[in-house]
Amino acid sequence: MKVIEQSFSVSYRYPVFFTQYLFDKTNPCLSDFLDKNKVAGLKKKILFVIDKGVLLIYPSLEKEISDYFEDHPGIDLIQKNIKVPGGELVKNDQQYFEEILRAIDYYKIDRHSYLAAIGGGAVLDLAGYAAAVAHRGIRHIRVPTTVLSQNDSGVGVKNGINYYTKKNFLGTFATPAAVLNDAQFLTTLHQRDWNAGMAEAVKVALVKDKSFFEWLENNTVQLMQRDLAAMQELIFKCAALHLQHISNGDPFETGSSRPLDFGHWSAHKLEVLTDFTLRHGEAVSIGIALDVVYSHFYGWLSEHTMLRILQLLQNLDLPIYTPELENKELLKGLQEFREHLGGRLTVLQLRDIGKGENVHEMDVTIIRKAIAWLKQQEIIALKSNE
Ligand SMILES: NC(=O)c1ccc[n+]([C@@H]2O[C@H](COP(=O)([O-])OP(=O)(O)OC[C@H]3O[C@@H](n4cnc5c(N)ncnc54)[C@H](O)[C@@H]3O)[C@@H](O)[C@H]2O)c1
Ligand SMILES: [Zn+2]
Repeated sequence: MKVIEQSFSVSYRYPVFFTQYLFDKTNPCLSDFLDKNKVAGLKKKILFVIDKGVLLIYPSLEKEISDYFEDHPGIDLIQKNIKVPGGELVKNDQQYFEEILRAIDYYKIDRHSYLAAIGGGAVLDLAGYAAAVAHRGIRHIRVPTTVLSQNDSGVGVKNGINYYTKKNFLGTFATPAAVLNDAQFLTTLHQRDWNAGMAEAVKVALVKDKSFFEWLENNTVQLMQRDLAAMQELIFKCAALHLQHISNGDPFETGSSRPLDFGHWSAHKLEVLTDFTLRHGEAVSIGIALDVVYSHFYGWLSEHTMLRILQLLQNLDLPIYTPELENKELLKGLQEFREHLGGRLTVLQLRDIGKGENVHEMDVTIIRKAIAWLKQQEIIALKSNE
């Protein structure tokens, strides 16, 4: 027998910018990045994929982009943007994936060119996936426009679309070339999306950083009053914790542990069971609530801490219950979570705020007890609102 043991390592690096008015001609963020990555004798192309939900609110955006590149002629802007609907529909219906691939082919976007995407997490997941698989990987620039995509989904290394009615069944790990977070986009978010994105901040705080959890508790009023400075701080802190985890841990998830997916085993299933009427962040909030109550009934988390976490979610106007929790299909979410990662089921539960620990099985009786308890809270809340 002969064997050649192949081994090499590759290091990854990408900047995540925090700015405002990204396409203002005086904003050097994007043009400096493109200049820095110039290759002599080569004029790179850039093709934009834009969330129609964003365009509806920013009808001048396309003109701003085109003016911006007129002033920065070092790059060849494809004048026709690909416009796709916002929200989960773009990940559910493959025609949008194909539309982007067709445009990549038609405009001859090669590996040295850029596919830039502007939009919420769903559009970025779709565009990121198309960029990752076309020609085995085109440089991808992300411009996230929601709280969730700026603090979580847009800054990481994952992309994907839904398939077989399973979330992110198709997808890759692929690092972006750059991420540009423009806080101005947040000002026009629907209240639901403003709130939903904060669920990921609560999640990362619970798993990683008690002082960030306390910061969230102390800044609830400002966040709910849509104070942009407070939200920028939340996003920066949350994105930093997220990025730190990726670089220190297992960025391409070769193991079975996924602490950043705390609360997600049920959240992903709830999105499907509600036919995506729940936003990802809302489903995550309910998923967090379920696992927090589970952690309490499991004997790990004190009642005081459990109530404190649920209170924060509710103060941020995030849901902690939906009737789909009682759907018997919910438990399949655990199995699907395991299958998605492979290996042993590994789910994080909480010992304390900022302190999680993996378990390899979950007790169905305790899950049911936690759901019944959450339902009871919902009934009490509804009665007190009558
Ligand atoms: N890749 C990852 O690591 C990762 C992590 C977490 C979540 N996700 C995915 O992210 C998606 C959720 O993303 P999301 O919460 O951003 O929601 P979304 O992408 O579904 O967007 C929600 C709505 O907001 C609109 N919108 C976007 N920007 C806007 C703006 N500035 N002003 C007004 N409206 C705007 C969109 O058109 C859409 O209708 C899910 O598909 C989820 O699975 C991916
Ligand atoms: Zn998430």
